[in-house]
Amino acid sequence: MSASRPIATKLLQLRLLATVAAKDARSSTTKPMRIYQKLAALGATGGSVSRTLNEHIMQGKWVTKRELVRIVKELRRYRRYGHALQVIDWMENRNINLSFTEHAVRLDLISKVKGAAAAENYFHSLPATAKNRFTYGALLNCYSKEAMEDKALLLFKEMEELGFTCHTLPYNNIMSLYMRKGKLEKIPSLVEEMKERNISLDSFTYNIWMQSYACSDDIDGVEKVFHEMLEKDAALCDWTTYSNLAAHYVKAGLTEKAEGALKKLESVMDPANREAYHYLITLYAGLSNLTEVCRVWDSLKAAFQVTINISYLVMLGSLRRLKDLEGLRKVFEEWQSNCTSYDVRVVKIVIGAYLDQDRLEEAEAIFKDASTRASRPFLSGMELFMVYFLRRGCLERCMEFLEAALSISKNEEWIPLVSTIDAFLLHFEGNGDVKAANELFNLLKEVSSVKSVAYNLLLRAYVAAGKTDPEMRRMMDEDGVEIDDELKKLLQKVCPS
Ligand SMILES: *[C@@H]1O[C@H](CO)[C@@H](O)[C@H](O)[C@H]1NC(C)=O
Ligand SMILES: *[C@@H]1O[C@H](CO)[C@@H](O)[C@H](O)[C@H]1NC(C)=O
Ligand SMILES: *[C@@H]1O[C@H](CO)[C@@H](O)[C@H](O)[C@H]1NC(C)=O
Ligand SMILES: *[C@@H]1O[C@H](CO)[C@@H](O)[C@H](O)[C@H]1NC(C)=O
Ligand SMILES: *[C@@H]1O[C@H](CO)[C@@H](O)[C@H](O)[C@H]1NC(C)=O
Repeated sequence: MSASRPIATKLLQLRLLATVAAKDARSSTTKPMRIYQKLAALGATGGSVSRTLNEHIMQGKWVTKRELVRIVKELRRYRRYGHALQVIDWMENRNINLSFTEHAVRLDLISKVKGAAAAENYFHSLPATAKNRFTYGALLNCYSKEAMEDKALLLFKEMEELGFTCHTLPYNNIMSLYMRKGKLEKIPSLVEEMKERNISLDSFTYNIWMQSYACSDDIDGVEKVFHEMLEKDAALCDWTTYSNLAAHYVKAGLTEKAEGALKKLESVMDPANREAYHYLITLYAGLSNLTEVCRVWDSLKAAFQVTINISYLVMLGSLRRLKDLEGLRKVFEEWQSNCTSYDVRVVKIVIGAYLDQDRLEEAEAIFKDASTRASRPFLSGMELFMVYFLRRGCLERCMEFLEAALSISKNEEWIPLVSTIDAFLLHFEGNGDVKAANELFNLLKEVSSVKSVAYNLLLRAYVAAGKTDPEMRRMMDEDGVEIDDELKKLLQKVCPS
């Protein structure tokens, strides 16, 4: 169980996915505009975009289309997709013509805010002239992100007929689709096709191509791609290439090669790039190299005036993985003494690290302290203890935390993490303790968000104990529980009809 692994993977995925979308948005660093700042502040105040813009105009201030477009870019860059979309909607309401690329941006935003079906509808509603390679491309990107393979391939074919596929981007989209679907074997032939068609590979293409070999543990394949990239497009090899390469080596257990790639990463990276430090720390932790983890952490702190919470998350996750509780405590204390807002994610990593080592008292002390500091009930902290006690078969102590969570969350519905639910289900699948399952069931079924979980664990306990109950199906119907395939299977055993 490791906390830093999910963070690293998530970062990696985020970066891979963001490369394409963010490319166009990144280079726009211009003087901050007052209206942009007003709109950006809406995230905190929850105000309305159109009202803010209208007020701005009513005050006799002008805002040009170019500014609006730039605002949309900025909002997108900071993942404020809802607000970005509202700005475009406002533009349309004021009869400001959208350019072809702006239609594509809008489609992308719709897919992010309202989902693929809405994006599809928007695409179909576009006038013929606006159905160009940009809008087609945005729809393809949406299908690819949602792993809608059939639709994506059909659209790609249509694009091919229209001559819209002689670019890198559509190919990258199809490749990421195949990665999502685990169809690794399709990637090399797509690369071949690109080469045949004289379509250039960009760093995204190379990265995903490399990754396709890494996923099938073919490190020779990874290296072959890397060398080809160096040879043909050395300029494309930036720190992300080396961090990907290093990650593949770490996974393959090739320590020396990984160290080499990390050294290279450090030599080519921009020292003002936090993300690069995060990768270095995580990857050195993957090599169990505490010395280097601490060295990079020190240079990260030296490079910036403020150490942000993400950096602490990465560092603490790495120390947890390396089981360095002493170092972890120091970094945690430093964070506590400096942090501007109390980020419970940081605390969860620390509690998790102590629980990993069965240092229950310390974990509880941190939890209690955090509960008084956090602005909201620290339910996810309680879940850590529930899972901890369940795994050790201490149902009684688990219930203490569960009851506490339920009593706190009366008004504010508790939505447990999937991992917590799994721990509960696993517990009852094994032991057939019908009495305990019933107790838990009675607690949980009051919470509508976990009602079906309550039945799930009750049924599992019944199955494990070989017990049946002819009333079960009726009870579930009365409780309005939606019976999915999993519940159906369990129900057939407990309540054979
Ligand atoms: C917007 O586009 C329409 C149709 O293409 C055109 O008639 C109109 O003049 C344009 N308006 C502006 C403000 O550019
Ligand atoms: C491929 O593109 C390059 C440069 O863009 C060009 O010089 C070359 O002739 C093209 N080859 C083919 C087969 O189209
Ligand atoms: C940690 O990494 C450094 C730099 O690559 C290397 O010199 C050192 O031997 C490594 N230490 C351990 C314990 O692996
Ligand atoms: C944070 O706290 C530590 C120790 O409490 C202090 O040395 C450091 O200067 C503080 N500031 C930052 C930005 O780390
Ligand atoms: C992380 O830090 C930033 C900046 O200090 C802060 O605005 C944000 O709320 C923090 N995140 C959490 C979840 O506390």
